Amino acid sequence: MRKYSDVFSDTDFLWGSATAAYQCEGAWNEDGKGEGEWDYFNHHSVLNIHNEDGDEASDFYHRYKEDIDLMVEGGQNTYRFSISWARILPNGTGEINQKGIDFYNNVINYCLEKNVEPNVTLFHYDLPLKLAAQGGWLNNKITDYFDEYAKVCFKEFGDRVKIWATINEPRYYSYCSNIVGNYPPNRYADIQSYFQYQYNLMLASAKAVNSFKQMKVDGIIGIVHDNGSVEIDPTAENQEEIFKIADFFYNRMILVPALEGKLPDELEEMKKTFNFMIYHSDNDAEIFSKGKGDYLGLNLYNRQYVKHWENGETEIFHNNKGADSMSLEGIRLKGLFESSFDKEVRRNKWGREINPRVMHTALLEIKERYGNPLILIAENGHGIYETPDENGYVEDDERIEIFNEFLEYMLKAKADGVNVKGYYHWATMDLYSWINGYEKRYGLVRVDFKNDFKRIPKKSYYWYKDFINNYSKNTK
Ligand code: BG6
Repeated sequence: MRKYSDVFSDTDFLWGSATAAYQCEGAWNEDGKGEGEWDYFNHHSVLNIHNEDGDEASDFYHRYKEDIDLMVEGGQNTYRFSISWARILPNGTGEINQKGIDFYNNVINYCLEKNVEPNVTLFHYDLPLKLAAQGGWLNNKITDYFDEYAKVCFKEFGDRVKIWATINEPRYYSYCSNIVGNYPPNRYADIQSYFQYQYNLMLASAKAVNSFKQMKVDGIIGIVHDNGSVEIDPTAENQEEIFKIADFFYNRMILVPALEGKLPDELEEMKKTFNFMIYHSDNDAEIFSKGKGDYLGLNLYNRQYVKHWENGETEIFHNNKGADSMSLEGIRLKGLFESSFDKEVRRNKWGREINPRVMHTALLEIKERYGNPLILIAENGHGIYETPDENGYVEDDERIEIFNEFLEYMLKAKADGVNVKGYYHWATMDLYSWINGYEKRYGLVRVDFKNDFKRIPKKSYYWYKDFINNYSKNTK
């Protein structure tokens, strides 16, 4: 039987790429899969602004072998993907769908046959519809339903999967669902639900970590956080206070439970600052204390650059229209803080900062403040519009330039003592970029969605292959 100790036996570093179930699998109603909240939202909501959906996505469900073969060809030794909860438990709880289990067994076995280390995330935004209809992440039974689902996965796949993540980006997911309102169930500026979501997601994660340990699964388990490390505009007033509030808003409800097994010490104070409460049970503290992760997955795209609140009502700035909008990404929270827009920093077409230096800053900050945990960069990438040549080939030099800078900063952090042992580029191939649709492309491999989902590796794919090769040569 494979062991976790085998993972780093022939390599000191994992190099790979990542996807998520709803974004790439397609086959939305095949082989007994239950309907998901995103299926429902995309099929029915006027807020599906590009009128796209994941019904077919990148057709990974039928083409996983080709995608894994391409990873191997590209020198990658690991693949991060997520399991669709509704494929395993069509109603979110209860009846198990054997065909769903078979599919993930096939993916995992094929990875292992090709020496690609599977890294599995249990939940990446795609809640089963039946649970969403019962209040989703605000329902107080949800944490037990998640634990039930996690246990099925540990039992079925735990003999072969050695790297697990419970939940992808509980913070950003809560943010989009409750503050921006661009992800279902589309609540806007709802601070109460934003924090209750994070609490319930972290409790669910802690329950699953507890089960993992009780079932004595050999492997590591953690959570994946979108690390927007907070940086303060030097012109801001009350900088220490603003940092504390913004860091709580962006990071601490996730990082403290995940890495210290407790709730943040400042929670009571922050309830007053933000004006929210948490529905909880008396034994939650004990669950959190046993729910600490073995590592931290970090999705590193940007920082959170903020200053004191100047004036104006609470407002969220977001851009899912890309080049068709001038909006920059940010927030103003009345009376608390607001985003600062740094003119010196480049931005992508969706108004988000491109700032590779923050890879180094964020990694060092976690090392220094949270006891140097094992870290895997679970996502990092750059979304762009792309035009292929007549053969479908994309020369994505802009991606390569930024990718290179991010990697250099990651290796610098490693050299500075950060315990980072893996990197997953987002994404393995082009896929559904949630509410942005399909034209915000992230893949190392182009997917021709209009031509039988043909896969064509991009220039960045070959560049990454060389980078991995050189790294391996130089560290031998
Ligand atoms: C991460 C998510 O936040 O960013 C991915 O985990 C997502 O699922 C990626 O696709 C890129 O974000 P977006 O919004 O540009 O698709």
